[in-house]
Amino acid sequence: MIAGLLELLADARRRRSGLLGFTCYDAESAAGVLTAAGGRPVVMLISSQLVTAPAGDLIVTGLRAMAERAGSPVCLQLDHAHDLDTIRAGCELGVGAVMADGSRLHLEANAEFVREARRIAAPRGVAVEAQLGSIEGNEEVAIEVSSDDLTDAELAVRFVSEAEPDCLGVAAGNVHGIYLEEARLDLARIRAITSRVGLPLVLHGGSGLDSATIRSAIAAGITKVNLNTELRQAYLGRTERELPVALDGARLLALHTKQMKAVESAAAERFAIVDAPVWSRRERSSAVGGLPRRESAGLSRGVA
Ligand code: 13P
Repeated sequence: MIAGLLELLADARRRRSGLLGFTCYDAESAAGVLTAAGGRPVVMLISSQLVTAPAGDLIVTGLRAMAERAGSPVCLQLDHAHDLDTIRAGCELGVGAVMADGSRLHLEANAEFVREARRIAAPRGVAVEAQLGSIEGNEEVAIEVSSDDLTDAELAVRFVSEAEPDCLGVAAGNVHGIYLEEARLDLARIRAITSRVGLPLVLHGGSGLDSATIRSAIAAGITKVNLNTELRQAYLGRTERELPVALDGARLLALHTKQMKAVESAAAERFAIVDAPVWSRRERSSAVGGLPRRESAGLSRGVA
């Protein structure tokens, strides 16, 4: 069933845990993620490049139909949109949230971009995620990267008051793709941003982070964790292994089932990380900074 992003973020905080977002490129990856979810809330991330790819509109429409039929509450989110046309296209295809990624711009231009994205998204009940600080790496290609230009808590306060996003992606040592060295998240930075900004925070670059690191990040104030690279690796690795068998007899459906299963098991490992509460009831007061500001309205927002 379709759910709004604010509703899912608030639900994750109530569960004293986190919400996971997985990039889905096709029916096989989406079926793997939704099967692994098994009724748990989940965000299906849609690559901006998919929206503008040949027949991308048809594929996104199919992914939305899968989300509608799923037993889990699912929010479709357009990920890393760098221009308003793509945001408009995503909204027209029925996503419940967009990431207006102006992180390559300076602060004022980034805030203006997010405000313009809100003008497109808000009338359609679509939530807006913004990002401050640069997350190195490539959203679509798994290259090895190290982190740079981390989010500053004071600038984040200014940015959020100017841009008014619903949630905020932060750079705290996280990268897209493959971590060059052992990943070290700056948890003190995440805590500082959480307490100063009071919005749900998003951790991009979840692939390659071990479960203890992800749980520590959630305890520090992260609400949503995005994952992509490790699902693509699982999908493509299984494809490579199964291809010789599939070629013998052109067994396409059998290959698709293996691809789906590979994604399912990769996603299932990640869901297990957020099943148990991350902080105790007594500790809750230190973690409430991450509740969505428009939480009560969130139950209707983003449900197209
Ligand atoms: P990874 O590919 O590093 O998991 O990052 C995914 C992501 O942040 C999508 O927004």
